[in-house]
Amino acid sequence: MMRSVFAIAAAFAFGLQMVPGEAKAAGNLNLICSADVVICEMMKDRFEKEKGISVNMVRLSSGETYAKIRAEARNPKTDIWWAGTGDPHLQAASEGLTQEYKSPLLDQLQDWAKKQAESADYKTVGVYAGALGWGYNTEIVKKKGLKEAKCWADLVDPAFKGEIQMANPNSSGTAYTALASLVQIMGEDKAYEYLKQLNANVSQYTKSGSAPVKAAARGETALGIVFMHDAVAQISEGFPIKAVAPCEGTGYEIGSMSIIKGARNLDEAKQWYDWALSADTQSHMKDAKSFQLPSNKSAVVPPEAPKFEDIKLIDYDFKTYGDPAKRKELLERWDKEIGASAN
Ligand code: G6P
Repeated sequence: MMRSVFAIAAAFAFGLQMVPGEAKAAGNLNLICSADVVICEMMKDRFEKEKGISVNMVRLSSGETYAKIRAEARNPKTDIWWAGTGDPHLQAASEGLTQEYKSPLLDQLQDWAKKQAESADYKTVGVYAGALGWGYNTEIVKKKGLKEAKCWADLVDPAFKGEIQMANPNSSGTAYTALASLVQIMGEDKAYEYLKQLNANVSQYTKSGSAPVKAAARGETALGIVFMHDAVAQISEGFPIKAVAPCEGTGYEIGSMSIIKGARNLDEAKQWYDWALSADTQSHMKDAKSFQLPSNKSAVVPPEAPKFEDIKLIDYDFKTYGDPAKRKELLERWDKEIGASAN
C-alpha cells in the first residue's frame, strides 16, 4: 500500500517536471506555403519532426500571399514564405517587405537560384524551377474530336470554346507567369489581343495555378494552362493527361522563398530557410508528386521532371516582370480588357 502511494507520488512529481519541458518546444513558425497543398503539408510535417519546431501553415497562391504581406507590413503575422512563383517574391523584395538573409547553403545552389538571390539583395532565393505549358485530357480531346494542342496558337481555335481553364493572374503566380510570358513572346498589344481570343474559350479563371489541370484530370475541362510539372503530377496519379511544351516557346518560374521583414520568429525562419535549401529536403519533394527542378545541385532530380533542355524556353526577363510597377500595369490591363468580360 505504502509502496503504491509512493509510486503515485513519484510519478506525479516526475510528471509535473516533464510538463514544462514538453510544453517548451523548440519554437514556433508562421509559414505561408504557395506550392501545392500536398507538398506544403509534407514539408510542414518533416520540418516539425526533424526540428521540433511547431509550424502554423497556410496555403495561399503567390499573388494572394504578396497582397497579404503587403497589407500586414506594419504588423507582420508571417515569418516565412516558401514557394510560389518568383515574380511576386521579387516584387515583395523590391518593396522592402522581405529581409536579407545569406544562407550558408547558397554555394550549394544552381546559378539560377543564386542569381535570383543576388538580384534581390538576398531578400529572396530560388528553391525550384519549372516551365509553363499545359495539360490536356486525351480522352476528352479524342471524344470531342479536338486538335491535340501543341502551340499557343492552337488554343484560340473556336473548337476549344468552353474547354480551357487557366488561373486568374491577380491571385495566381502561374497565371501571372503566363501573362508575362505571352507579353514577352508576342509583344504587349498582340498578347492582350491573343488573351481576348483565348477568353472566348476559357470557361473559368481559377484562384490557384494548378487547379485547371486537376479539373482536366477529373474530366471537367479538356485543357488547363499550368506549369508542366503540375500536368506531370496528374499523369503520375494515373489520369489520362498529356503535358505539352508550347511550340512557339514558353516562360518559366524560379519558385522562391523569402523571410518576411519584421518576422517574430526569425531564428526559426532561418532554420526553415537553410533546411528547405538542403539537398536532402529537396530530394524528398518528389514523394509528394512535386516534380519541379530542385535548386540544390546535389538534390535528386526526379525522372518525371520536365527538363529545360527539352523545352523551347524564352529568356524570361525576371527584372522587368518582377517589378511592382510592371505587375500593376499588366494586371490593370488584364482586369480591364479580359477579367471584366470573363465568363
Ligand atoms: C503549383 C506549382 C508550383 C508553383 C505554384 C504557384 O503549386 O507546382 O511550382 O510555384 O503552383 O501557385 P499559384 O497558385 O500562385 O499559381
